[in-house]
Parts: sequence; C-alpha cells; structure tokens
Amino acid sequence: MQPVVTYLKKNQSRFVDELCEYVRFPSVSAQTNHRADLKACADWLLKHCRQIGLEARLCPTAGNPVVMARTPRGRSNGKPRPHFLVYGHYDVQPPEPFELWKTPPFEPQIRGRSLFARGSTDNKGQHFAHLKAVEAYLKSDVELPCDITFLVEGEEEVGSKNLGPFLKTHRVELDCDAIVISDTGMPAANCPGLTYALRGIAAFEITLSGPTRDLHSGIFGGNVDNPAMALSQLLAQLRDENGRVAVPGFYDEVQPLSPYERRQMKRFPLKEKDYRKFLGVPKLFGERGFTPVEQRSARPTLEINGLTSGYQGEGTKTIIPAWASVKITCRLVPNQRPERIAKLIRAHLRKLCPPTVRLEIEGGHGAKPYLVSPTGRQTQAALRALQSAFGTQPVLMREGGSIPIVNEFKKTLHADTLLLGLSLPDDNAHSPNEKFNLDCFAKGQLMSAYLWRELSES
Ligand code: BES
Ligand code: MN
Repeated sequence: MQPVVTYLKKNQSRFVDELCEYVRFPSVSAQTNHRADLKACADWLLKHCRQIGLEARLCPTAGNPVVMARTPRGRSNGKPRPHFLVYGHYDVQPPEPFELWKTPPFEPQIRGRSLFARGSTDNKGQHFAHLKAVEAYLKSDVELPCDITFLVEGEEEVGSKNLGPFLKTHRVELDCDAIVISDTGMPAANCPGLTYALRGIAAFEITLSGPTRDLHSGIFGGNVDNPAMALSQLLAQLRDENGRVAVPGFYDEVQPLSPYERRQMKRFPLKEKDYRKFLGVPKLFGERGFTPVEQRSARPTLEINGLTSGYQGEGTKTIIPAWASVKITCRLVPNQRPERIAKLIRAHLRKLCPPTVRLEIEGGHGAKPYLVSPTGRQTQAALRALQSAFGTQPVLMREGGSIPIVNEFKKTLHADTLLLGLSLPDDNAHSPNEKFNLDCFAKGQLMSAYLWRELSES
C-alpha cells in the first residue's frame, strides 16, 4: 500500500494538470451544438484510460458515447476477485450566464486551493480522483485486491436516458459487487461524508389557458378569468402555513426518520446563521418540526422551477394573458413513488382548478428515491476508507439531489451504490464559478486507494 500512497503524493501536480486538460472540453450535454465537444472529451478520456494501463473502449449509444475502462482482470488464490464499478459523467451543465464567471468556464484557473472550471466538481474532478488512485496501483506495481470497471457516461445532466438500456445490454460484463459514485457532497474539506440516501424526483409542467388570445384588460377585464391570477391562486394552495405540501396523501408513504438517523444528522456541521448568509436569504424557510439538515435531505418538497405568463417586456401592456404556465418538481424521499405522487398531484389540481380556465398537465421524468442501510458491511468498509484518507470520522448523510441511475443499478445489476461525495457546499455545482477543492481531490484519491482494500476484505 505504501508505494501507492507515495505515488499519489509524488504525482499530485501532474494530476492537476491533467484535470485541467479534461475540464477544457465544453462537454455541455443540454446543448446540441456541443455534440462534437462531447465526443472529443470522451476520446480524450479513452486515451487517458489507456495511458494509465486500463483496457478501455468507447461504446456508442443513441446519444453520447459511454467510456468503459477496466483494470486487467486478475485472480486471487485461483478465484475471481471481487468486482466493483465506478460510475461518473463527463458531461457538464450549461455554463450560462457567462458574465457572472470571474474567469471563463472552460479555461481552468487555480485560485488558492481550488480549480475553477465548469465540470470541475460535477463531475470530472470527482471520478478523475478514482482514476488516479487506480493508476497509482497499476503504475507502482501493487496488486489490486479487486477488479474495477469505470463507466463514464455523457448524458447524466440530461437524465441518463440511454444508460438504463445500456446497463441491460452489458449486464454480464457489468455484473459487480457494488457501484461506487463520487458525485455528491461532503460537509467541509476536513469533514468527509458518506451519503446513504438520495431524494427522488417527479416533474410536471402545468398550463392554465383562458381566452384564445391576449385580451384588452380594460375592455374585457371583469368578464373573464385571468389565467395568471388563477394559476397563482392555485399554486398558493399547494403549501400550508407549516411549510408542508398541501396535496392530500402526499406524505402517506414517507418513511419517518429513525432516532439513529436524527442523531447522525445532528452531527452535520451546519451553522444556521452562516448558512442563511451563504444563501443570501433574510430568513430560512422549511417544514415545521424538522431541522434544516432534515428538511433539505430527508423530507419531500414541491418547488416551482419556472413561472411564465403575459407580457415580460419593457413598460406596461394592459392585457389579460391567454395562458399561464409553471414548471414544478417534487423531491421525494423513501418510500414515496413518483407515479403515485404524480397521480395525487394531478387529481388535486383538477379539483382546485376553477371552471373559468382550462387545465393541462404534462408529466415529465421521474425517479425513485434511494436508500441503503447505513450500517451495512460495504458502507462500513467505505467509512473506514474515508476515515483513513481524511484522518477524521466521516458523517453519515442524506443528500437532497437525485442520481436517477442508481435505481437502475439496483434493478439491473442487483448491486448497491456507495456514494462517496467530494464536492463542497460552496463548490457552485450548476452555478457560475464552479470549482473543485484540490485537497478534496488529493484526499479523494487516497480514499479510493484505501477503498479497494477495505471493500475487498470486508
Ligand atoms: N451530482 C448531481 C446530483 C447530486 C448533487 C446529488 C448533490 C446529491 C447532492 C447530479 O449531477 C444532478 O444534478 N442531478 C439532477 C438529476 C435530475 C436532472 C433528474 C438533480 O438532482 O437535479
Ligand atoms: Mn449535476
């Protein structure tokens, strides 16, 4: 093990240079004009995997290609070794708005101990840490205790719709003992975390339409309902004075938090005043009876993501708009089911909608929440790896975000996912000035190096 650790230490600055090369690709999956950049990025990664001693290939899909790279297969005492999958994504979120970036999103710059670039934390830097750990084993001739396959896709930020079918067609070679993902957060640079639950998601687009065209609000105002007003009134009824989602049955399947979990969440270092300041809000908001940590990770929500109606240009325009629409997503927790939640919300909206407007509901994508036992054997092994790398006791946490593919891993490969996030709360994932902390990068490599031993021996 020592040669691995020494190798990592000695090569840190080269690793950072390589990561800078990797984040230079504008691999924005949401924008079709970047198709070629995604391909170039995948090609770069493929070549890099081969350079560090992996057997790698590019697998085409109906969308962006998947990079598959595996360690040369070995045996221990004549038996096949355990097999683990590392999942990551090389696609990134759109960088807009450009003007809010201090340095251009695809021109990496190091300031202090952080590398600033789109995709640095979400997710290139995080899975690159695992690649560097495996490189250290291969290049320092220390035998890996297990086989490892890297699966790096290019469509995570747009819903991973080709990866589910991909898992099915490649289920034999992807058959594994566990999946490892570093694509979540950790509380602070000196406080590692293991995520044992993710929220699910249910998305909708709702449109209320009234008159066949925008009307003069003076001539017709008073005779017809205003779709924007009707929508506002409808939306206002979706939460109550306790910050709870006011859709009948919404909480029916929510699994209550155990006292053990509530104790774990108390260990998450979050100072309410600093948090409020960091977010820039005058006061925090949330479901009564739960702490902020619980509210944002273990309780479900209903959020308006976008709201549109009427005239948005300069000055006034006296109209009754023909329609009003809203984009909504719910974050779901165990054991809520996206299909059932969708049904409840549809039924409730139909009931609330006045007869003066027409209601149209479009159901978008959905994903189930994810939960693994925080006391399981593999989780405990991962906690030991985090502890060894960071030198402090990791916290167990639930994350509020979603990684829909983890449910497919369970269903198709019958394996659990270990979520070992390296992203800091102020890393600005999905925001301008995204960054990745270089200490988290280095410690993440160490964690990965220890992880293979801990997992294989457990
Ligand atoms: N890496 C995030 C997910 C994440 C971030 C989970 C932080 C937990 C903590 C991922 O890239 C992401 O943004 N996922 C989307 C999924 C959605 C489009 C279905 C999300 O959570 O909004
Ligand atoms: Mn993301």
